[in-house]
Amino acid sequence: MDVEVYYFTGTGNSLYVARSIAEKIKGTLIPIPKVINQSRIETTADCIGIVFPAYLAQHTGVPVMVENFVRKLEKMDFKYLFAVCTCGGYENVNALPTLKKLGRIIKQKGGKLTAEFSVRLPMNNLQYPPYVSHDHDKMFSDSREKIEDICERIKSRKKNRHKLLKTILNLIMTPLYLMLKGLYVTDLKKKAHVAPDSSLSYKELVHLSDNSIYYTEACNGCGTCINVCPAENIKLENAKPVWQNRCEMCMACAEWCPQQAVIHWNRKEGIRYRHPEVKLSDMFIRELKM
Ligand SMILES: Cc1cc2nc3c(=O)[nH]c(=O)nc-3n(C[C@H](O)[C@H](O)[C@H](O)COP(=O)(O)O)c2cc1C
Ligand code: SF4
Ligand code: SF4
Repeated sequence: MDVEVYYFTGTGNSLYVARSIAEKIKGTLIPIPKVINQSRIETTADCIGIVFPAYLAQHTGVPVMVENFVRKLEKMDFKYLFAVCTCGGYENVNALPTLKKLGRIIKQKGGKLTAEFSVRLPMNNLQYPPYVSHDHDKMFSDSREKIEDICERIKSRKKNRHKLLKTILNLIMTPLYLMLKGLYVTDLKKKAHVAPDSSLSYKELVHLSDNSIYYTEACNGCGTCINVCPAENIKLENAKPVWQNRCEMCMACAEWCPQQAVIHWNRKEGIRYRHPEVKLSDMFIRELKM
């Protein structure tokens, strides 16, 4: 059975997970940004996996590019379709609603998400809420064990749906999710620099969120940010980065800048984070530009 493992990543967590799984199950590793500009995404594989981070889990969770990827998939009659959501918070209230949303998108396309998994890994430089674990070493060792278990389940083509847990959690959490959804949209409008009563869609606001990204005088025009951006959203003008409103909010430009010159959403004091087993060169998925 041909297996393809697609991934989307900003700080390397999902790349690490996707790569580990692809190696263990002998699948082909494919970055979603590499295929996303095709009008239709065709595959002959009969098993595919989608590995991605949770973004604003209580709102939509699924990154815009990942949703667009699924919508562009040419066929949906896979024998086995699995997804792994990486997240920084508790998996039950972050990965689970996100996987539910992904399952719905796949269903709208006529497909079925056979197995859903999650792996908790360190958050990037979002200001850490108090409930987020700072014990990164434990998270890395737990994640290794979890990935082993996921691979065994994938190899034996096990179903993994968390149906009951999702239903119960959704019932309990719905009021909180609704409140957070409103807060997230208000915050996104601020990041996008649009009026509070703007009727722009969630996707449009995400793309405009780079209106709050800027560089400091530490920038030396090295071009790393343009090459790590999954959305090809940055160009250099006079050896300085210019963001072009196609942002995916992945934070790669800020996290991978060698000079720490990119300031994201006004969070100067943010902790820079990259998965320790992912190298800068692993993030370069296209021919290098300057
Ligand atoms: C814009 C944005 C929103 C995020 N929202 C959530 C969230 O709602 N819940 C959560 O647990 N983690 C959230 N995270 C953290 C990521 O899901 C987590 O760090 C993930 O492992 C990053 O994967 P990556 O390194 O592959 O980009 C968010 C990260 C970003 C950049
Ligand atoms: S990666 Fe940093 S230093 Fe290099 S061009 Fe981008 S902002 Fe400037
Ligand atoms: S501009 Fe930065 S945050 Fe936006 S998609 Fe590109 S790398 Fe990610």
